[in-house]
Amino acid sequence: MLNRRQWLKAWSAGLTALPGAAQSGLVFPGKRSMLVHNDFPEDLETPVEYFDTWITPNASFFVRQHLPRPKVDAGSYRLEVAGMAASPLKLSLDEMRKLPQYKVPATLECAGNGRSNFRPRMPGLQWKKGAIGNAVWSGPRVADLLKKAAVSANAKYGNFDGADAGVAKTPDFVRSIPMGKLMHEATILALEMNGEPLPEIHGFPARLIVPGWDGASWVKWVNKITLSGQPDGGFYFATAYRYPSRPVSPGGTPKPEEMEVIEGMAVKSFFARPDDEAKVKPGLVKLQGVAWAGEQRIVRVDISSDGGGKWMPAKLASEDFPFAWRLWTFDWRPGRPGRHILMSRATDSAGRVQPVESAWNPSGYLWNAIDRIAVVVEG
Ligand code: MTE
Repeated sequence: MLNRRQWLKAWSAGLTALPGAAQSGLVFPGKRSMLVHNDFPEDLETPVEYFDTWITPNASFFVRQHLPRPKVDAGSYRLEVAGMAASPLKLSLDEMRKLPQYKVPATLECAGNGRSNFRPRMPGLQWKKGAIGNAVWSGPRVADLLKKAAVSANAKYGNFDGADAGVAKTPDFVRSIPMGKLMHEATILALEMNGEPLPEIHGFPARLIVPGWDGASWVKWVNKITLSGQPDGGFYFATAYRYPSRPVSPGGTPKPEEMEVIEGMAVKSFFARPDDEAKVKPGLVKLQGVAWAGEQRIVRVDISSDGGGKWMPAKLASEDFPFAWRLWTFDWRPGRPGRHILMSRATDSAGRVQPVESAWNPSGYLWNAIDRIAVVVEG
C-alpha cells in the first residue's frame, strides 16, 4: 500500500501502481472497512464476504482511480458536448436532471480484477476478487445528449474526459467509446447510484455507464464529451487497458499493434461464502457466490467438490437483468470430514464457459479462471 508521500514519489517516477499486498483497517468516509491497495488516491477493494446482496451498497463498492479525486462544484458544473456536432452543448446539472432519466442495473468490474492470481506476476494493483460490484445507476441516456447536440453522422467516437487532471508523469484519463455502444439504450450518464446522488468517490456529479464493458470505460466526473472521427490518442486509451489479440506465452511481450481495446467482459463466477480456508461444521454447508458475463447473460453456474470430475448445478438466486450479475447458492453436504477443494464454473448465453486457466497477458487483465476455495469440514 502506498501512503500520500510514497504515491507522490511514485508519480514523479512515472509509476502509480506498484505491486503490494492490500491492507485492511483504514476507514474512508462513507465506506465500510475495505481492503486498501492505495490510500491516496484511493484504490479500495471490496472484501469478498460483503458480496451477499445483489446490489452492492455504495459504502461497500470498490474504488479505482489513477489520479487524485477532483472536487466538483455542483453549481458551476457544466457538461460540454463538443466536436462533430451541429449544436454543441453546455448543460448544467439541473438541465441534465430535467432530461428523461433511466435506471440501469449493471455490474462494474475493473479489467485488472483477479490480477494477483497470474504467474508470473506483473506490476499493477494486486486485486483479489473484489474489484467488482453491482449497482442501479440512473441518469440521462447518452444517445439523448448526442441527439440534442445534433451529432454528425460522421462521428465515430465519443471521447470522454473527467474533471481529474493529469499530474507529472501520470497523464489525463480520457477514454473513447464507439458510437454504436454510445447509442445503446442502456448507456447512460449516471447522476445517481443506488438511489443516492453519485458519491464523490464514484464520479460526482456524472459518470459514464457502459454496461457489460470493463471498468476503465466508465469515466468518472465527466465534464467533456468530444465527438470525433478518431479515438483519443492519449495513454489511457491508446496504450493502457488493452489485451493481446493472440495468445502470449507467460512473461512474453506482444507487439503494440497486437494489443486490442478491451470492451465486453469475460464469463466468470466466484465464491463469496464460505471464505477460502474456512472451517465449517459437518452437515449442510451453504455455498454462495456471484456470476457475470459482461454483455452476455449467465445461464448456469456449476459446482464441483471432486476436482472437476463431476459438476452439479447451483441455483441462480437473484434478479436477471442484462448487464447485471447473478447471485447463486448451492447446498453442499460434504461426505467426509477434512479438507475439500470446491470449484465454481459459469456458462453464459454465448456458450462461453469459465476456463480452467486464465490466459496470461502482460497487464494481468480479465482473470476468469474457474474459482477454487478450500474448506475444512470439522470431524
Ligand atoms: N474515471 C476517471 N475520470 N479517472 C479514473 O482514474 N478509473 C476507471 C473508471 N473511471 C477512472 C475513471 C477505472 S480503471 C475503473 S475500474 C472505474 O472507474 C472504477 O470505478 P469506481 O471507483 O466507481 O469503482
